[in-house]
Amino acid sequence: MECNLAVIKGDGIGPEVVTEAIKVLDAVGKKYDHSFQYEQILMGGCSIDATGVPLTDEAVAIAKSKDAVLLGSIGGNTSTSPWYQLPPELRPEAGLLKIRKELGLFANLRPANLYEELKEACPLKAEIADKGFDMLIMRELTGGLYFGERSTMEIDGVLTAHDNLIYNENEIRRIAVKAFDIAGKRRKKVTSVDKANVLDSSRLWRKVVEEVAKDYPEISYEHMLVDNCAMQLVKDPAQFDVVLTENMFGDILSDEASMITGSIGMLASASLNETKFGMYEPSGGSAPDIAGQNKANPIATILSAAMMLRYTFDLDKEADGIEAAVKQVLKEGYRTCDIVSEGTKQVSCSEMGDLIAARI
Ligand code: IPM
Ligand code: MG
Repeated sequence: MECNLAVIKGDGIGPEVVTEAIKVLDAVGKKYDHSFQYEQILMGGCSIDATGVPLTDEAVAIAKSKDAVLLGSIGGNTSTSPWYQLPPELRPEAGLLKIRKELGLFANLRPANLYEELKEACPLKAEIADKGFDMLIMRELTGGLYFGERSTMEIDGVLTAHDNLIYNENEIRRIAVKAFDIAGKRRKKVTSVDKANVLDSSRLWRKVVEEVAKDYPEISYEHMLVDNCAMQLVKDPAQFDVVLTENMFGDILSDEASMITGSIGMLASASLNETKFGMYEPSGGSAPDIAGQNKANPIATILSAAMMLRYTFDLDKEADGIEAAVKQVLKEGYRTCDIVSEGTKQVSCSEMGDLIAARI
């Protein structure tokens, strides 16, 4: 199969981790006889430096012409980088929000599971970690607070900011349908997370999810308030299968879920639209403090490439192959510095990529 990818290395550790994911994809190509073609585009701070904007329309057009986008990370240190002196619509994150919107990537899948080998790195008590967990956070990605109108103005001499949180029933329905569909291929449970005791948008969310649930009698579902969910994630993460939630709650809960897997460097993600097209990226940020030091954990990006094979190209066997190679390397005791523990062998970002590629 020929797979045409747009590649956004981005900022910070982005270029390092994407290089390792490409190494692994090329190993997959060799073994299973596929050809991966890569065209690089700029987004984020590197795009600001080169073009003055965080994402050009030409870059969007290139992304749209491909089968999928592989992304590293964007952004810099928000207190020291000159990118954050720019108006908000010209900052690195605006590029990410723009590409999600332009490509219609409304469904963000963030799987969080605890590898047997990483139980040592899990910050939860042993009696909780021992039960393990395997959940998928399904985050709505193109609506809600991050896309509502916002402004800051002076009202009667007082600086006042507002952000609009808007969801319509169609936006809720399409993400709920995706969540129930995917739950059907997993452990058949959806936990829909909202703040329906306060927010109208959450009350609508709950109503639409209930309607969608009627079409899936074989899937069990429950509603959970977001504050309770934040607590349950550290108290009893094994209870979750698919966690369905809106944009901001999903942003926050997915960072929490990643941390209990041992490191944010382990969490892959896929952002999908109605078609097979997807953008695949690690859930973690650009980690400017360790950028360029060959220290970053490339596993989240490598697992994101596996998700790409599975969701965009239907190459399940190949995706399984990447996941098995990651497990194997962990079992052999290799760790990047974020997940290292006593008795394991610390390796660099590029060594981790080499080890995984060699086991494909
Ligand atoms: C993420 C990130 C982004 C988001 C930022 C960089 C805009 O935190 O992908 O979770 O909030 O969506
Ligand atoms: Mg986030």
